Amino acid sequence: MRDEPLNPAAPSSPAPGALVDQYGRRITYLRLSITDRCDFRCFYCMAEEMEFLPRDHLLSLEECLRVIRAFVDMGVSKVRITGGEPLVRRNALWLMRDAARLEGLRELVVTTNGSQLERHAADMRAAGVRRVNISLDTLRADRFKTITRVGDLSKVLRGIDAAVAAGFNGIKLNTVMMRGVNDDEFIDLAHFAVDKGIDLSFIEEMPLGEVDRARAYFGSDEALALLRPHFELVSSEETTGGPARYWRIPGTRTKIGFISPHSHNFCDTCNRVRITCKGELYPCLGQNDAVSLMPALRAHPGDDAPLRQAITDAMGLKPKGHEFDPQAPGPQLIRFMSMTGG
Ligand code: 5AD
Ligand code: SF4
Repeated sequence: MRDEPLNPAAPSSPAPGALVDQYGRRITYLRLSITDRCDFRCFYCMAEEMEFLPRDHLLSLEECLRVIRAFVDMGVSKVRITGGEPLVRRNALWLMRDAARLEGLRELVVTTNGSQLERHAADMRAAGVRRVNISLDTLRADRFKTITRVGDLSKVLRGIDAAVAAGFNGIKLNTVMMRGVNDDEFIDLAHFAVDKGIDLSFIEEMPLGEVDRARAYFGSDEALALLRPHFELVSSEETTGGPARYWRIPGTRTKIGFISPHSHNFCDTCNRVRITCKGELYPCLGQNDAVSLMPALRAHPGDDAPLRQAITDAMGLKPKGHEFDPQAPGPQLIRFMSMTGG
């Protein structure tokens, strides 16, 4: 038996072939990881020694494009390319260019660690990427090295400037909140975003992957309280259907977001699914159920009907809601963020 539809905004009779889950939520947003590799080793994301997947276990870029096309044909209007670090995959720009041209796709966006942006930002913009999210957890070079283990902050800062110069429709910094690691920099990071005229989101750390997570968790409400005395924050109605809440800073171009997978429930407006670089479709980030699209792709190279069927069938796995427990010991999901791309 079907439950009541959860998303009142969902049209009662979507176009034939559109993706709707069993709770009536329309799926309009796809996040696709194109590589598990990364040139950083952020300690909250990866083990120091990571074993990456062999090339033939990954979706080829042509297969990535087929997957994106199938989703766009089924009503997805926003696609995010993630990793790992998507720009370490050779020819990632080719995929962006071809994906951006798909009719029906309104927004192609990319999440990156910024390490290669100095070189690629202008080409990405020209390829049709509308917005970029850039990870930045600290403005201190030594701390940046500690967090990323190998990263060079100055390179990322130059990447951010290149992105600003490239004229994207939006640039957002993502900061993972870590108590005792970077919680003394939230105000500085917000000033930095204001100076650059870009947005900033603070992200609650999620229990993904087998990495050491001894830190006490830092929640969005506490971060908001920390910023309040320093910035005028005006609540913004804007929503992406995800776990983010936004605040404008009047007189600036900056919005501050708080991404709260723990402390606020957002499942009833969830509009998204994720695909790993191995071609596994995860209907929900907070759940281990997945369906591999690889068999449909590889057994039927010239026919997308089985692929579309596999996607439709997978929607039955999307749960009504999920929960992470920040106090629970150990990882609650075994996979790494670099597999699902956040
Ligand atoms: N919890 C929260 N955010 C994470 N990211 C990576 N791992 C985690 C985690 N365990 C962030 C990255 C990047 C975004 C894609 O997700 O820093 O900004
Ligand atoms: Fe790479 Fe991003 Fe993971 Fe850091 S958080 S290791 S930049 S994928």
